[in-house]
Amino acid sequence: MRIIICDTAAEATEKVAGFITDQIRARPDSVLGLATGGTMERLYGRLQQAHRDGLSFADVTTFNLDEYVGLPADHPQSYAYYMRHFLFDHIDIDQDRCFIPDGTIHPFQAAADYETLIADHGPIDLQLLGLGRNGHIGFNEPSSSLNSLTREKALSQDTLAANRQYFDDDANMPNSAITMGIKTICSAHQIVLLALGAGKAQAVKRMMEGPVSTFCPASALQMHPNVIAVVDADAAQLLELKDHYMHEERIQQMREHSAGVV
Ligand code: F6R
Repeated sequence: MRIIICDTAAEATEKVAGFITDQIRARPDSVLGLATGGTMERLYGRLQQAHRDGLSFADVTTFNLDEYVGLPADHPQSYAYYMRHFLFDHIDIDQDRCFIPDGTIHPFQAAADYETLIADHGPIDLQLLGLGRNGHIGFNEPSSSLNSLTREKALSQDTLAANRQYFDDDANMPNSAITMGIKTICSAHQIVLLALGAGKAQAVKRMMEGPVSTFCPASALQMHPNVIAVVDADAAQLLELKDHYMHEERIQQMREHSAGVV
């Protein structure tokens, strides 16, 4: 895992935006895996800016990680709505190629359909991930099989508490979601994870330095050969080998610089 520790959240977000725009420039018909949540709002603002500055998303295909069970795409708290609001309506992407699990049909069917779509259009070139405070990726909550495919998962108490702020009324908050599985996520060529703030510090430590375990689903990323985790200083504060990661990244930067110079 390549670990990039930035001083600020803004710097970390900028870094991740750079990885995504570089990917699209290198391959305009890239298949991207996308995430939702508070962390991604500023990042999607940066991608909107990249589009205003001339980057085209016209040939890009996207797959979102998850959707709440029971919410139609026009529901303001659905992730389909979130994606249109924060990104898709502001760029030149073809929304017929922006896939999100269907929260309105039977979850078995929605999950099977989604795996078929990924097989037909994939593999995913670059998968963007956020990180839950409990170590979830997508909505793969603790206890998720590290070999899981897309399926319905019950949301944990931690996740319900963290996401309640987005729902006016507790009674309307779904208690499960269709999520790409950990195996589905790990079949992407490249994974880029963004985690910001002190509230994520414990999960960041468990993901990077803990044992690979269903207790911390993000720890499965230790087994993937091509992961970049970008965190800010607050999220990195509990890392035991922080100085080493920073040293490694300085060497990486030097390598990239000399490759650019040659
Ligand atoms: C949502 C998703 C989740 C979030 C995670 C962090 O599509 O995949 O795993 O990335 O819950 O959410 P925030 O950014 O709101 O802290």
